[in-house]
Parts: sequence; C-alpha cells; structure tokens
Amino acid sequence: MGGALHVLAAAALERPSEQVLGAIDDAARRHGTLYLTETGARHEIASAMDMTRAFFALPLDERMSIAARGPQDFGYRGADRSSQILALTRTPAPHPLFGTIRWPPRPAGLQSAIEAYLDRMYLIAIRVLSVVARNLDLAPDHFDTMFGRGAIENLQLRHYDAQPPHNPMPLAAHSDPPPITLIAQDDVGGLDTLCEGAWLPVLPLEDTLVCQFGTMMERWTDGRYPANVHRVRCAEGASRYSIVYNLLPRRDTVIERLPSCRANASSNVEPVTLDDFLGANLPVQPPPASTDYERPVDEPALAGCREAVRGASGGSWSLERASRSGDTVMLQLHAGSQGIDLEMSRVQEGRRYFRSMAGFGFSYRNQITDPSLLAVLGRLVPSFAALLGRSFDA
Ligand SMILES: [Fe+2]
Repeated sequence: MGGALHVLAAAALERPSEQVLGAIDDAARRHGTLYLTETGARHEIASAMDMTRAFFALPLDERMSIAARGPQDFGYRGADRSSQILALTRTPAPHPLFGTIRWPPRPAGLQSAIEAYLDRMYLIAIRVLSVVARNLDLAPDHFDTMFGRGAIENLQLRHYDAQPPHNPMPLAAHSDPPPITLIAQDDVGGLDTLCEGAWLPVLPLEDTLVCQFGTMMERWTDGRYPANVHRVRCAEGASRYSIVYNLLPRRDTVIERLPSCRANASSNVEPVTLDDFLGANLPVQPPPASTDYERPVDEPALAGCREAVRGASGGSWSLERASRSGDTVMLQLHAGSQGIDLEMSRVQEGRRYFRSMAGFGFSYRNQITDPSLLAVLGRLVPSFAALLGRSFDA
C-alpha cells in the first residue's frame, strides 16, 4: 500500500465490485488520488518513459526546434526552468488553447510510442469515469458522449532537473482543471498529495499509474469530490521524469452540476462552456516576436511586485521566482507550503489579460478563493503589468 492511498487493479474497473466502487468514492471524497496498478500498459509506459528521457537528453537547439510559441501552446518549454515540459496535446481540431500537435523529429519512434501510450491512457481514463458515474448514481455510460469523438487529450512529458537545496519545490501546490489525470512517474518520487490538511507522499510503485481528480470533477459534483491538490518536491539533487495525461471533454460540452449533484439549492455553480472553464475566452496569444525562451527577470525590475505581494498579504506571501518568455512574464508566489504560478502576457492593444496558471497552462482565474491571495492579486496587477512595459487599468 502507498500510505493512505487506495491501490486498485485497472482491470477491476471493468466490472467493479462494491469494494472497488467504495474505494474510488472514498479516494474522490478525501483527496482525489489513487493508484491504478496492473495497468495492462506496462510496455507502453516503459516505451513512453524511454522516449521522455531521450527527448530531454537532446541538445538544447533540438529541443528548441519545437519550442512552444506561448505558455499554452503544445511543444517544448522550460529551457532554463527547474521543470521542462514537452506538451503533446491531441485534439480533434486546432484549438485556440492548445494549437495543433507537431511531433519532434527525434528521438526516432517517439510519435508511435506516444500515440500507443495515449490510446492506452484513454481507455483507462474512460473506465475510471464510468466507475465515477456509477458512484454518482448515473448510468455507467453517462460520460461516453462528452469524452467520445472530439475529446481533448493533453499529454505532458516532464523532466524536473536536479533541484538545488534552497528550492526543492519545482512545482508548487495546485489543482488541475481536467476531471481526470493519469500520471506515470519514475522511481525518484517527489509527488505529494494533500489529504485532510497533511501532505502524503505518492510513492512510486511498479507498473502503476497515479490517478487524480481535478477542478472539473469538483464543479460537476458541487464539491462532493473536491479537486485534488498536489505538488512536486524533489530531494536535493534528484532528477525526476514523469508523464502526465489529462482527459478533457469535447469542446461543445457544458460544464455543469451532474444530475445527481443538484440537491444544494443555494449552490452557486453555474453552467459554463468548456472554453470559458479553461479560460479560452481570452484572446488567443500571439507568438512571441523572437525565438527567445524563458529567462530570469532582473531583480531591480521586481521591486514593485515584491512590495505589492508582501504589502497585500502582511508578509505571508512572497515572490519566489520571475521569468520572461517573449511577451509573457511569469511569477511564482509562495506562502508556507502553498504556491501559485501567475502569468501575464501582452496582447492586442486595449485588451486586458490577467490570469494565473499552474503547471498545465490553464486559467485559475475563477477558482482562487483564498482571501489573502485575492488581495495579493489585486495589488499586484499594476506592477506586474509594468514588467511588460505597459500600463494596466485594473
Ligand atoms: Fe498538476
């Protein structure tokens, strides 16, 4: 067993016993994390992990040849950050958030390995969702249409470089928007999940995927299944590889409370489109003018942001990192074990663009409820915008 986390055989999802149903319900209610073992995808996981290592071992110029043109675009990003990503989103049609998939020419065999991996993960994710539907008194095929033809699969190959002792947290605490995420991790470890106020290490187990439920699940269930909160904290000098698979519904899906989760008349969960949910109602980000990639922001330029964060939170939040990529500036804030990545981009004149993101580049704009963080964001906007060399009517 992995601490307090349930470990279920993936094959048991097909005709779930009462025990399996109960375990998934329990995991979804308490922390939104479980292990799926005996995946039937051992070969695909091993091949995809080999390709992940091989891709990040390529010379920087080669990785940069498919550099992402914006923080939400597919492609490579993170050349000088502690966490590098190759995003390989598979969408039925070009999507303003994700673009269209392009495959890196090397390492040889990456495309076939990743496509086989995606096929396997899709089947497992659909089976988990079918069990979730049963637990919510819905038909087992309740999600089949929204996750059928046209569903969006978001895959990220990730490499966390060896971490310096002063910054062991390359990925701060956050939740992810997709309803379901499947993670393959190497044997280094570092992933933690928040369970009833305490961090549980999600230790690596052989032939096992980590399954997480995100903010869309929380919205569907009106909070019965709260979004998983997780972080990555690597031991000093540890270098971690992982593969993160997210399944999102079709773009025409309306995200609303599920039929069995509407008893709370005072709920303020309103139906939203998928694009609104993901923040895609914001302008499509233009590609940066140059091919430059993330680099640190000069310390003097950060003074205003630092002061705004400290002043608005009474010192509980602090600015940890800042970097710039083309016309986008990223800030990372921390408060104790919490953290959040914020990002601002220059867009068409006269259009405002302020949102926060964590990890996968989705909007968290409507999901921040911590009052101290909201106060920080309010104070931060003008100095954040000044980093982009423009004024901002907040
Ligand atoms: Fe995440």
